[in-house]
Amino acid sequence: MIKNITILGSGNVATHLGKALLKEGYSINQVYSPNKDNAFDLANELNAMPCDDPKFITDESHIYIIAIKDDFIDKIAQQLLLKDKIVVHTSGSIAMDVLSQFDNHGIFYPLQTFSKDTAVNISDVPFCIEANNEATKNHLLALAKTLSNKVYEIDSEQRKKIHVAAVFACNFSNYLCSISEDILKENNMDLDILKPLILETAQKIQTNSPIAVQTGPAKRNDQEVIENHIKLLGNTEAYKDIYQLITDNIIKQHNGKL
Ligand SMILES: NC(=O)c1ccc[n+]([C@@H]2O[C@H](COP(=O)([O-])OP(=O)(O)OC[C@H]3O[C@@H](n4cnc5c(N)ncnc54)[C@H](OP(=O)(O)O)[C@@H]3O)[C@@H](O)[C@H]2O)c1
Repeated sequence: MIKNITILGSGNVATHLGKALLKEGYSINQVYSPNKDNAFDLANELNAMPCDDPKFITDESHIYIIAIKDDFIDKIAQQLLLKDKIVVHTSGSIAMDVLSQFDNHGIFYPLQTFSKDTAVNISDVPFCIEANNEATKNHLLALAKTLSNKVYEIDSEQRKKIHVAAVFACNFSNYLCSISEDILKENNMDLDILKPLILETAQKIQTNSPIAVQTGPAKRNDQEVIENHIKLLGNTEAYKDIYQLITDNIIKQHNGKL
């Protein structure tokens, strides 16, 4: 049974997972992060030992959760001398086999948007689990189930698809909201006026397909309004391009051409 955990990373995911695991009674042995202050700060919060050099990561834990920048997971994993321990990463897009040098390895991917200082209800976060053997998979499923009510066995191919879908649902919608905020600010107004609309948009698709509840000028193909909007965007070429591209696609989608 997993009791002792080492966390690699001190950012958004490491912080949320670390706190949630500690709350559930797990012991966090070490927190590794290349920036000494960051390692120290999170270790301090988790009653763990800080570490800023992978060669000082000890083999005392049952599981090692790598929650660092995607580009460095492979490189850091190569430096860990933990042959028979469970080693997992938390990425939506990095293949499981970057951890194949460990006898017991897998994926512990929390499918949510995490920002360090924004509270998240971890029991509602879907966890996508994969492992290279049955025993490791069962350990990971059991660990995830102590944190969340939504635990799924998801293979690497499915996880990659989920991740690209999540980028549209989360990162792109968030970026589009940042454009809304910019347009309002430019005109001395605040995003607050759009917040009920943003919430309702997210609420509606809890019980409806997004296509079924689409509204707006593109869905109605109101060409005059669309042209006026493009003019209103003035010299902001990037916003005009995005407006036109998404408008064209909504029109096609509602004419059955997509
Ligand atoms: N944020 C999300 O919403 C989310 C959701 C699900 C999964 N994930 C996955 O979780 C992982 C961590 O994401 P995050 O958002 O928590 O990232 P983050 O907040 O940006 O934190 C990145 C961590 O990577 C470390 N790091 C940076 N460069 C490094 C290097 N060269 N070598 C070793 N470590 C390095 C940072 O260390 P220092 O601070 O010490 O420099 C920091 O601890 C990623 O695999 C990501 O795909 C993220």
